[in-house]
Amino acid sequence: VRVGILGGGQLGRMLALAGIPLGIGFDVLEPGPDAPAAALARHVVADYDDPEGLRRLAAACDVVTYEFENVPVDAARALARDVPVLPPPDALEAAQDRRTEKALFDRVGIPVHRYATVASAKELADALEHVGLPAILKTRRAGYDGKGQVVVRGVDDPAEVWGRVGGEPSIVESLVDFDRELSILGVRSGVGEIRFYPLIENHHRAGILRLSLAPAPAVTAALQAAAEAAAARVMEELGYVGVLAIELFQVGDRLLANEMAPRVHNSGHWTIEGAETSQFEQHVRAVAGLPLGSTAVRGYSAMLNLLGTTPDSTAVLSIPGVHLHVYGKAPRPGRKLGHVTVRADDPMDLRDRIALLERLIDRPG
Ligand SMILES: Nc1ncnc2c1ncn2[C@@H]1O[C@H](COP(=O)(O)OP(=O)(O)O)[C@@H](O)[C@H]1O
Ligand SMILES: [Mg+2]
Repeated sequence: VRVGILGGGQLGRMLALAGIPLGIGFDVLEPGPDAPAAALARHVVADYDDPEGLRRLAAACDVVTYEFENVPVDAARALARDVPVLPPPDALEAAQDRRTEKALFDRVGIPVHRYATVASAKELADALEHVGLPAILKTRRAGYDGKGQVVVRGVDDPAEVWGRVGGEPSIVESLVDFDRELSILGVRSGVGEIRFYPLIENHHRAGILRLSLAPAPAVTAALQAAAEAAAARVMEELGYVGVLAIELFQVGDRLLANEMAPRVHNSGHWTIEGAETSQFEQHVRAVAGLPLGSTAVRGYSAMLNLLGTTPDSTAVLSIPGVHLHVYGKAPRPGRKLGHVTVRADDPMDLRDRIALLERLIDRPG
């Protein structure tokens, strides 16, 4: 079996790292010549919407998936005429635009915080009346890692705020005073079987994921069940196949959906060492038509992103229970260059190991 991947970043690289032992080969379509996944896959160097590149990918592969959601949906649909594309392009379309994403959550009955779509400074001023302050303005498309977002605390000059998202079609949401951020990761197979990992607790800095704890501490059975039910409704609605992540805000005992990712997710990287079957292997199994694996968890895990710099490997690997992943990307401020997963059988040991790691990370190695 050969799996094609639209996108050749670290997620594609970790998909290949998981699939190769299963006897699966990979082809990635990615315009950049030094793509992190290219070390492990055949590399079609082409733009995501290049018909010739897409044709070559379709001809080479039995199924095509994607590792980031800003692949043009038309390209995914064009591919789907020649080769199965999973998760279905409808999922890509829904996740690509914050408005269609919220509309999907509304349609399947998943609670979201107040929001309104805006296309001008005037609409922004009106929308802020409805949504209230403080609020957060986000471009509908192409945002990631907190890019294309502006927090609005006052409305002195809507035109100035509007200018800060470049006048792009946007949504404005109430800024949620959440207790914490969580994510739910599930996988649905080609025959409709669904499995979930336990809820994960996520800590962001300036809109970028910094630390994930898995399983999230102090999760009630009711909270886990609510998150699973929400994700299952999205997957059933879309006829989904593959791994799906939904980012959630916990407020008291309620969950509000923030956004979804129709792909493997940064908050699931810990599953490589912390679960019986990683999210990457599950995604490959699902899209390749293979049975799903167990999502059983091994002890307690934390994942720390390496943002902008990578630490000294010797120091990191001296800490017990640590696993280092470096993606082979050129350093740039704030860029995700790698991650560290640390595991322990006891939550107190985990806490100590995180503290040791935090002293090493963010310092150039
Ligand atoms: N409505 C909101 N209320 C409070 N915090 C928010 C809100 N929207 C986003 N954030 C914060 O910004 C982070 C990134 O926003 P998100 O919508 O997930 O966009 P991205 O596509 O950049 O991940 C969130 O994980 C959260 O920490
Ligand atoms: Mg997010």
